[in-house]
Parts: sequence; C-alpha cells; structure tokens
Amino acid sequence: MEKSFKVAVIGAGVAGLAAARELKREGHQVVVYEKSDKLGGTWVYDPRIESDPLGLDPNREVVHGSLYSSLRTNLPRQLMNFSDYPFEIKKNGELRTFPGHEEVLEFLNEFAREFGLVELIRFNTEVVRVHRVNSQWIVESELSLEEAFDAVIVCNGHHTQPRIADIPGIEKWPGKQIHSHNYRVPEPFQDQVVVVIGDGPSAHDISEEIAMAAKEVHLSSRSPEIKVTKLDYYDNIWQHPKVIKFLPLKI
Ligand SMILES: Cc1cc2nc3c(=O)[nH]c(=O)nc-3n(C[C@H](O)[C@H](O)[C@H](O)COP(=O)(O)OP(=O)(O)OC[C@H]3O[C@@H](n4cnc5c(N)ncnc54)[C@H](O)[C@@H]3O)c2cc1C
Ligand SMILES: *[C@@H]1O[C@H](CO)[C@@H](O)[C@H](O)[C@H]1NC(C)=O
Repeated sequence: MEKSFKVAVIGAGVAGLAAARELKREGHQVVVYEKSDKLGGTWVYDPRIESDPLGLDPNREVVHGSLYSSLRTNLPRQLMNFSDYPFEIKKNGELRTFPGHEEVLEFLNEFAREFGLVELIRFNTEVVRVHRVNSQWIVESELSLEEAFDAVIVCNGHHTQPRIADIPGIEKWPGKQIHSHNYRVPEPFQDQVVVVIGDGPSAHDISEEIAMAAKEVHLSSRSPEIKVTKLDYYDNIWQHPKVIKFLPLKI
C-alpha cells in the first residue's frame, strides 16, 4: 500500500463526503469536521432565515443553507449520482427525474452510511483556523482544540454568502429587500408587487412560486434584448430588461 496520511476534511457536504470516501478507500486516516449537527451541507433544508435578509450585516447569525421549501433539483437525478453509486431514492414509491431536496439528502445519508463515512465525521465542530507548522497542518476547531494533519481538504461550500446586485439607489429604496439565500416560502409576499432580479434557475422557480401569492411579479434579467412582456402561461408574471436604478419613492 502507498504511504498512509492523516487528512482533515472540512465540511460534510457532497464535496467533503466524496473526498472522505476516496481518501478512506486509499487507506488514509480521515477526520471530517462539520460545524452543524447533520451531514449533507446545502441539502439540509433549514427553515430559519438570517436576521439581515440581504446578508450584508457582518454580525448576523449565518444560516448555511439556501434551499427554499419547494426546491427540486434542476439537474436530472441521473446526473447527480456517483459513477459507482446509484441515486435511486423514491418519494411515495416514485423515482422522480427531478427529486426534491429531501430525496437528495436521503441519498447522501445513504451514501455516507454505505461507505462508513458517518463515523469519520465530528459533528458540531467548526474549524476556525488552519495553519502550518513545519511539515504539518494544525487544524484549530472551536474551544481552541488543535490537531495536526499531513493534509487538509477544504470543502466548506460556496453558496452561503449572498452577492447583491449593484444597482444605483438600491440601498435607499424603501421597500422590503431579500436575497434568495433567505427565501423559503411564498406566503410573506401575499398580494404584493414583487421584482425578482436575476435569470438563473432560482429566479425562475421563485418567480413562479411567488406569483401564486403575489399580485404581480416582475422578473428582471441582464440578458440583452429582452422586451417587457407577460410570460406565457402566467397571468401575473412579466419579464423585463435590466433594472437601471431605484428611485426613493414611497410605495
Ligand atoms: C438553491 C440551490 C440549488 C442547487 N441545486 C442543485 C441541483 O439541482 N443539482 C446539483 O447537482 N447541484 C445543485 N446545487 C449546487 C450545490 O451547491 C451542490 O450540489 C453541492 O451541494 C455543494 O456541495 P459542497 O460540499 O461543495 O458544499 P455544501 O453542501 O455547502 O457543504 C459545505 C459543508 O461545510 C460545512 N462547513 C462550512 N464551514 C465549515 C467550518 N469552518 N468548519 C466545519 N464545517 C464547515 C457546512 O456546514 C456544510 O455542511 C444547488 C445549490 C443551491 C444553493
Ligand atoms: C449514473 O448515471 C449515469 C448517467 O445516467 C449512468 O450511466 C450510470 O450507470 C449511473 N451509475 C450508477 C452507479 O447508478
């Protein structure tokens, strides 16, 4: 066998679990640090939202997950499997092409159990600092616990810090503002007029869902050559080109 290393993996989401399995398979000694009490990262639905719904306040309590309650995958299940491990989780007896987030989480839990990864995870243990001393990495977790490793793999995710549209006047605009990271359910938008900025899968999903509660939804995209038009199949969703500026009018 090749030389065995002691390796720290930071994060027990998809990336951390895949890394841990490959390392274990090659005979390395693996410790997975996970700050929450569950594995699955993004796929753990968290109904909480942050105190600052735009995520600008550096002192806010950060919620890791960005899932909305109704979310289903935007890739077919067949593209989300591992090359040697099938994604065959059913809901109410049905194997859905675009599973909901619960099925994805169950898939990851099953994967972790199957390959003996759960016992490698230190739950409720946030890594706060990693530094190098001679040829080793010192991983420092909460309560100042330190442990030395030969290698560290950082799998802490990249969807938790919102990126805010930089539009003149947006900071003084008096209406309610929220980033999709903190969107969970449509009810708070009942009878409101809502502008959704963005053109990705979340913007489209959220627009369609909010339209069932809101009075009007206006979906603004940066893509060139968009004309203001009502979307086919919807009574109250219009698409718009890029928002140029916000005016400080009382609404
Ligand atoms: C709304 C949304 C929808 C998506 N839909 C799809 C889809 O349909 N199909 C698809 O393939 N992908 C989708 N993705 C992409 C998704 O990001 C990946 O599928 C995948 O979950 C990313 O895994 P990850 O391990 O990189 O990060 P994460 O899942 O974010 O996991 C990171 C983990 O690290 C932990 N952590 C972070 N910092 C520390 C620390 N300092 N110490 C200890 N632990 C820490 C976190 O608690 C978390 O458990 C979607 C993403 C979002 C946001
Ligand atoms: C994973 O999905 C691919 C693409 O659909 C398929 O060819 C492969 O057989 C699947 N592998 C497993 C183990 O399910």
